[in-house]
Amino acid sequence: MRETYAAPLPGMNLAEMSGKLIVIEGTDGVGRSTQIRLLRPWLEQQGRAVLDTAIKRSELAGKGIQQAKEGHTLGRITLSLFYATDFADRLEHEIVPALRAGFVVLTDRYIYSLIARAIVRGADPRWIRNAYGFALKPDATFYLRIGVDDLIPRVVFSRGFDYWESGMDIHPSEDMYDSFRKYQTELLTEFDNLANEYNFEVIDATPDPRTVFEHLRAGVARVLRGEPREPLFSVVAPPAEPVDAATHKVLEMPAPAKPSTTDQAESAAEDQALTIAVEGDASR
Ligand SMILES: Nc1ncnc2c1ncn2[C@@H]1O[C@H](COP(=O)(O)OP(=O)(O)OP(=O)(O)O)[C@@H](O)[C@H]1O
Ligand SMILES: [Mg+2]
Repeated sequence: MRETYAAPLPGMNLAEMSGKLIVIEGTDGVGRSTQIRLLRPWLEQQGRAVLDTAIKRSELAGKGIQQAKEGHTLGRITLSLFYATDFADRLEHEIVPALRAGFVVLTDRYIYSLIARAIVRGADPRWIRNAYGFALKPDATFYLRIGVDDLIPRVVFSRGFDYWESGMDIHPSEDMYDSFRKYQTELLTEFDNLANEYNFEVIDATPDPRTVFEHLRAGVARVLRGEPREPLFSVVAPPAEPVDAATHKVLEMPAPAKPSTTDQAESAAEDQALTIAVEGDASR
């Protein structure tokens, strides 16, 4: 039987959800989409049905949130509740039915990003956690972790700084760079707190996409095999840079086995998929 963090949505039956709910978390521009574009075909090649979903994709609230952000028409509390509405709609109409049908649900961000953003904007941490109490506990949350110094070039060389991702609503400044650095530093601290609290599986997002994917894929494969997280992964100190680093964990994956001929063929297919994924992003 699935569990929720607090009371489920009224009428939601938590039984018979044989699928897997896998969360990919991480800050703006860290590489979540790139990884999901790699994970999805890899899962489908194994005959798994996959649903991928992300914030703002609900029929009910997706467009409204976009418009509200463009017009800056909502206050911080109402915007948080609008996001919660989007999440509730996708939970009820996409995620739960897909889990019931045995899908692997890959979700690009989950309640944690929404909690982190709200807290950085001054929301009461208890209130915002309670607001998402109806969320299903996922089978695993993989947190792509990066420090702000590694994040900045990644964002600059892809799409540049964006108003909301730079926290311009809370740190209005002439200089978007300063604003981005300040806001993202606060956000990363909050993510690190949540990583501890919700027991995220932390993946170092600083290497190239292929290396990140190998780590992520090993973690997802383990979840699909239904194996427990420990003791497969040793826990080591995280990369030096981000805030509050000493208290957080990074997974060190076992070295990949020597590739067989089949592995090499798969690897060639993945290389191609990777090129498509990364190029696809560069054109954004
Ligand atoms: N491991 C990586 N190393 C270097 N660059 C990367 C890596 N992963 C992704 N990128 C590049 O960083 C940019 C952002 O990647 P992507 O769109 O996947 O991030 P995202 O987390 O989905 O961003 P958003 O928050 O906008 O949804 C892209 O140009 C992508 O090619
Ligand atoms: Mg993305």
